[in-house]
Amino acid sequence: MFAVLLLGLVAEQAPTPEQVFEKRIGPIFKSPDPSSCVQCHLAAVDLKNYIRPSSRETFLSLRDQGLIDLDTPEKSRILALIEMGKAEKGAALIHQKNRTAEYEAFAAWVKACCADKDLRAAPKLKADELAKPPRPVAVIRHARKDQLLESFTNSVWAMRFRCMSCHTEGSAENKKLAAEYGDRVAWFKAAGPEATLKYLMESKLIDTNAPEKSLLLRKPLNDAKHEGGVKFLVGDEGYKAYRRFVEDYAKIVGDKYETAADLPPKQTARAFGTDIWLKVTNTPPAWADKLVQVKVFAWDATKKAWEAEPVASTDRKVWGQGKLFQHSLTLFAAPGSARAKAWTVKPELPNGRYLVRAYLDDGKLAKDWNTELGAADFVGEAEVTSAWPAGYGKMTVVDGAKVKQP
Ligand code: HEC
Ligand code: HEC
Repeated sequence: MFAVLLLGLVAEQAPTPEQVFEKRIGPIFKSPDPSSCVQCHLAAVDLKNYIRPSSRETFLSLRDQGLIDLDTPEKSRILALIEMGKAEKGAALIHQKNRTAEYEAFAAWVKACCADKDLRAAPKLKADELAKPPRPVAVIRHARKDQLLESFTNSVWAMRFRCMSCHTEGSAENKKLAAEYGDRVAWFKAAGPEATLKYLMESKLIDTNAPEKSLLLRKPLNDAKHEGGVKFLVGDEGYKAYRRFVEDYAKIVGDKYETAADLPPKQTARAFGTDIWLKVTNTPPAWADKLVQVKVFAWDATKKAWEAEPVASTDRKVWGQGKLFQHSLTLFAAPGSARAKAWTVKPELPNGRYLVRAYLDDGKLAKDWNTELGAADFVGEAEVTSAWPAGYGKMTVVDGAKVKQP
């Protein structure tokens, strides 16, 4: 009889919010390991950011930020944030154990808090008492892995044709080189940009402490001896794309972005690498052994004018003796446009009229890699009609003798 009474009493007394907090949230707060958020957020936010030393302050802080649903605690946004990675495959599994522990701890504690009349009705905290991520939303967004993958796809991945097939996993050329130099040469992964980014992030090719010294940049410059020879010049399109990527990546993982104003400018175009080659023969003497950039403009039949933005471009050092310029094109499309959608499947240019404009670098790119060639560097233009077939053996040719100089 007495025993039954006692049991009933214990069962009625659910653990207090403080008890749940102490036992289950405390260990998460004190753990040196990152939370499951790192599956998608490289920096700028962590579950620990929302926790304060006491149960009461933590709850009020979450409540005041709209992260608690007092009447349906299981629908609280803090739980949704923890569960964000649940639906994903692959990387999600690594973090699943962590996430389940976090979820169960928070769910039990939020429920206990919401059942506490005094806590629910407690006055608001002051703004400086709230526990939240130290970085603004814009920085949290920028530091997401899916955002990084997008910028990688638009930069390093889009420029992969500049490395021909030497580094493309599984190509005939790559297999030959891998047999001689090892699997490290197969860093453009056959599975695509996501697998390549993951490989590079885990490799020693990016130096996050001194991004400009990354082997990913120094090898193609042949600044660190490169069997593939010189593939970049400081400031050319390939170098810029790679350098911007590694600089940004280093700042993200180093948590160096504090405000939205620190972030790099948003990419205004999606870039698509191709094996479509443009060749200029009989290049003018002034171009000899200089870096020349060509921009290709499509004809807009409705407006009866050349499009304002280039649809493609490329750049390379002119071979002076041979009076020859040739390189593969990168195509550009506005994000979300019909072209961007089509080119995600297969980047190609329709048969038609195009204007090819040339810009000559007289040494300014070596002084400032991040600068662009513009109107002041313009050295001539020519019209060309082409169906732009892909392949080294099927180049679209412009006769340099027909280039109209400004
Ligand atoms: C599976 C990937 C994934 C995981 C894991 C993840 N997030 Fe997110 N997070 C996102 C995405 C995508 C967004 C933007 C879309 C959205 O708000 O739903 C986002 C947005 C956010 C935002 C809002 C910023 C904004 O863009 O408005 C915060 C804060 C946030 N997450 C915190 C967290 C915390 C804390 C964790 C860990 C407990 C976490 N996230 C785990 C993918 C994830
Ligand atoms: C003609 C073939 C060829 C081309 C083209 C080429 N490479 Fe290489 N690259 C090699 C070979 C072979 C090695 C291995 C020997 C060495 O380290 O130089 C290598 C090594 C590298 C490495 C070091 C890999 C590691 O893990 O040690 C990087 C980084 C690299 N190349 C970047 C590039 C980039 C970027 C491009 C294009 C812009 C490029 N390469 C174009 C042949 C090539």
